[in-house]
Amino acid sequence: MSQAEHSRVNGQAWSHHAYEAWNRGYGPPQQAAAKIRENPEQVLRHFGKYLGSIQGKTVANLLGSHGRRAVALALLGAKVTVVDISAGNQRYATELAQAAGVQIEYIVSDVLNWSPGERAGSFDAVVMELGILHYFVDLAPLMQLVNHLLKSEGRLILHEFHPIITKCVPREGNQAALTGDYFSAEIIDHPVPYVGVFSKDEVSDFPSCRVRYWTLGEVVTSVASQGLFVEVLEERPHEELTHLPGTFVLVAKKTR
Ligand SMILES: C[S@@+](CC[C@H](N)C(=O)[O-])C[C@H]1O[C@@H](n2cnc3c(N)ncnc32)[C@H](O)[C@@H]1O
Repeated sequence: MSQAEHSRVNGQAWSHHAYEAWNRGYGPPQQAAAKIRENPEQVLRHFGKYLGSIQGKTVANLLGSHGRRAVALALLGAKVTVVDISAGNQRYATELAQAAGVQIEYIVSDVLNWSPGERAGSFDAVVMELGILHYFVDLAPLMQLVNHLLKSEGRLILHEFHPIITKCVPREGNQAALTGDYFSAEIIDHPVPYVGVFSKDEVSDFPSCRVRYWTLGEVVTSVASQGLFVEVLEERPHEELTHLPGTFVLVAKKTR
């Protein structure tokens, strides 16, 4: 499947009731913003330490979805640009930012069709978190964009689901048994992640996403092969299956 078709399918899935999903999941923007304002660092807890002082930094938050990370970053003083394919996400994120009293720039686009123009090479950081890489059938164009956006010494901060969990789903009831094929390159249908806030009847006509999961080796290679210097690869325990990795944080610096 081409990237254009992959993105078309996923754009359709993510445009279906996303605004309503976040209202149900996180509450109306006013309520959700008040919670983020209380403790923005908490929203960024998995990778915030790698950003250092956020005040005054320019951050591209690619596939930034509902805008919770972007708003937390903006509350801590960053100038944030979100790029995401879903207008429903944009609506929630924009109202969230307004309610939190901060400004974010939110661009609705397939990220690979977005051109940063004169802002190429101006970002201190590119942040991507949780549920990103499987929206790409080839990681090279995404990492090329990351490299293109960053200034010299700027950093990619990627916090993502660990391939052990996405590719070898632990079998329920037996924490030791993993299923699936770690090396599979298959593209599979997957429900849009927010189906859980709707009833079974409500989601019966929801379009599915299409996903392609990547091995850890493929992810690290895609970053390093763009000339980004990998500084950190932190594997973090799964929240329930603590003997398995749940997510990883990869930090890479643009050195030239
Ligand atoms: C699971 S969310 C990412 C999580 C989010 N960053 C967070 O902070 O929790 C995935 C996002 O990717 C977006 N998306 C999927 N394919 C895309 C593409 N090709 N270009 C831009 N956004 C895309 C979806 O609209 C969705 O908001």
